[in-house]
Amino acid sequence: MKKIAVLTSGGDSPGMNAAVRAVVRKALFHDVEVYGVYQGYLGLLNNNIKPMERGSVGDKIQRGGTFLQSARCPEFKDREVRQRGIDNLNALGIEGLVVVGGDGSYRGAQRLSEEGIKTIGIPGTIDNDINGTDFTIGFDTALNTIIDAIDKIRDTASSHERTFIVEVMGRDAGDLALWSALAGGAETVLVPEHKKDIKEVADKIQQGIERGKKHSIIIVAEGVMTGEECADQLKKYINVDTRVSVLGHMQRGGSPSGVDRVLASRLGAYAVELLMAGESGLAVGIQNNKLTKTKFEDIFSTQHVLDERMYRLTNELSI
Ligand code: F6P
Repeated sequence: MKKIAVLTSGGDSPGMNAAVRAVVRKALFHDVEVYGVYQGYLGLLNNNIKPMERGSVGDKIQRGGTFLQSARCPEFKDREVRQRGIDNLNALGIEGLVVVGGDGSYRGAQRLSEEGIKTIGIPGTIDNDINGTDFTIGFDTALNTIIDAIDKIRDTASSHERTFIVEVMGRDAGDLALWSALAGGAETVLVPEHKKDIKEVADKIQQGIERGKKHSIIIVAEGVMTGEECADQLKKYINVDTRVSVLGHMQRGGSPSGVDRVLASRLGAYAVELLMAGESGLAVGIQNNKLTKTKFEDIFSTQHVLDERMYRLTNELSI
């Protein structure tokens, strides 16, 4: 393979730049020409494709967001629209494409692979909700951002003897909520994968107060309900001074952690190796600290599952 391209797609995540850097540098190391597609699949359709040099990815490893930019592009599901993107790649002689994104982005990559462009996916999302990998790029950084916020919220919660509800990202997956609840020492966590009665939450807060607890932290994943809804429901059962903190998109920003930079670098380089070996229709990942490849169809065939033991542990430790 002589020419490849790389794009970032879907919601950005810290470490995407490190992944693009690894793809570009690994390709150049092996004398493979490499192009950057700006604005994800939208840029592919608009021919926003530029050659990448060694320096194009200099001073990027520590930056949050994605310098290639990202865009949601629902029209890419349309076969005829997609063909425009394929024509743009063909015109430049690009045979392989690395897509950094979530599983929506993988679906586009799978279709391109079926239509003649060799594609490899790299898991980039803060949600950690992609099968075939233990961790996605950006999860660790977002987790640390949330923990930092919880620690600060705890200070003021304690000063005022308040119950804080912290709403974190995660529409369908509770990983960010669960890990941050465990690491932040929260009293309760609400995740989309488990239905929890708010009365049960209220009872737990009440029991804590009776034992002398001065403040409480409840973590709620946005996919369960909003923080405000949670506060309203809680008020039906318990009379506590409550405040809500919605962390929002700050969870997606910031300089990537060391763990995310290393993961992104390993996965980016591995994606290039696979393309050079003529492979396609695969996503790379890390499982038990080993680099792995999984067919897109296998990634889509099952739901992402929450770590049940960790869920139980979080509840056990927050008595
Ligand atoms: O998929 C990552 C994610 O950050 C989700 O956790 C969140 O629900 C969503 O993206 C927000 O998307 P947008 O930035 O398009 O509002």
